[in-house]
Amino acid sequence: MGRLRIAVRHSLGQAVLLMVLAYVLVVYGIPYLPPLFGIESAPVPKSLVFQYMGLVAVGVLIYVSRDEEHWAEFKEPLHRTLIDPNRKTLRGTMLVLVPILVGWLTYTQARPSIGAVAQLRAIHPAPPARITFQGRNIDITGLENPLRHRGTIEEHYAAGRRIYYQNCLPCHGDLLDGQGHFAHGFNPVPLAFDDPGTIAQLTESFVFWRIATGGPGLPREGTPWNSAMPAWDEFLTEDEIWAVIIFLYEQSGWQPRRWEESDE
Ligand code: HEC
Repeated sequence: MGRLRIAVRHSLGQAVLLMVLAYVLVVYGIPYLPPLFGIESAPVPKSLVFQYMGLVAVGVLIYVSRDEEHWAEFKEPLHRTLIDPNRKTLRGTMLVLVPILVGWLTYTQARPSIGAVAQLRAIHPAPPARITFQGRNIDITGLENPLRHRGTIEEHYAAGRRIYYQNCLPCHGDLLDGQGHFAHGFNPVPLAFDDPGTIAQLTESFVFWRIATGGPGLPREGTPWNSAMPAWDEFLTEDEIWAVIIFLYEQSGWQPRRWEESDE
């Protein structure tokens, strides 16, 4: 008991004690906190534990170096271990153990793990509220296909068909079934527009976003697989994209989803 009391009075002992205490609090304390502001507590992820402990270590270092006297007291045992002839064995042991520990930590960090992918791919992730299209901002929310109020559907359908056959066919296929010539080379596969799970579920503005920004425009949950869907904003005009959208819906027979009418 006496030795423990001495250790607690000593700067180095306090530093070690504080670190251990902080670790126990972070790892075993935080998960059992009562819900705060309606947020349930959860186990702290390892990376965060690492960050917290880093912060605590900085705080502890500031604490033990608050004046010369404490700092000297803190350093003294470490210093003595490094030079004292009587501590040769301890020194030798540290010389072997510390590199092994660092090596083991590095190994566990770098070891490839065979687990399920952390995130599942969302086929229809939430679109951004606005996108930049050829240097211009376009609000996606509430956006309608302007061609539906201009010219005739036949004329847009014809234009859209030409654009589709010139650009989209190799991947999405001539039956809009996602079975183009190149389709088998891609993972994820090009989507089939005749399937009730694709454009039939979407608003035209969502489809516009997907055609304009393609795979590169997908948010994180749209990965981890790289989509081969090109970003067409560099190759097609805004009207051409709207026209090909009309073609997709006319040809597949689906109705685009509509924005909900709001009362405001
Ligand atoms: C190089 C192959 C390729 C070409 C060419 C291509 N696409 Fe795609 N497209 C894909 C792939 C792969 C996906 C599925 C992955 C994804 O969602 O990004 C996709 C997805 C889409 C989607 C999303 C559908 C949904 O339900 O979310 C739309 C819309 C689309 N393509 C339209 C087009 C149009 C229009 C063209 C022609 C202007 C075109 N694509 C050309 C490969 C291609």
